Amino acid sequence: MRDTAARGILLRGGSARASWLLAALLPVLALASLTARADSEGERLYVEKCAMCHRAGGMGAGLLSRRYPKGQELLENRTNLSAAFVSQVVRHGLNNMPPLSRAEVSDPQLAAIAAYLSKGTP
Ligand code: HEC
Repeated sequence: MRDTAARGILLRGGSARASWLLAALLPVLALASLTARADSEGERLYVEKCAMCHRAGGMGAGLLSRRYPKGQELLENRTNLSAAFVSQVVRHGLNNMPPLSRAEVSDPQLAAIAAYLSKGTP
């Protein structure tokens, strides 16, 4: 009887430790998966400056999923974005997206992000 109770406590303790470990690891894993994918400067900057809203689950992706078919709510999956449109939206904002200043995203950084998202379409 006492044995079972002790095992119960051990098990509970064990799973509490496991979930603590998981909670500690999750942000690290999330960050790693965000940064590991970056293989161009534009992509790296997109992850740094835009992904907090535009990754899956972000506010931008959430709102865009109301207007675009599944998958197309993620800007990196779009094939119909021009660099000019991306730059326009970033500097002037659009509906719920706030404009981003040159202090937040410099002109060269925006050019790299726009080239990445437009896949070369000016
Ligand atoms: C604070 C959150 C936030 C950040 C940061 C942000 N966006 Fe947005 N973005 C949004 C939201 C929200 C929308 C949807 C606006 C709407 O229509 O309501 C949006 C829409 C867009 C659109 C329009 C897509 C379309 O087809 O209508 C583009 C392009 C865009 N964002 C590019 C960017 C880029 C590039 C960056 C980084 C430099 C960026 N955004 C950073 C929130 C953000």
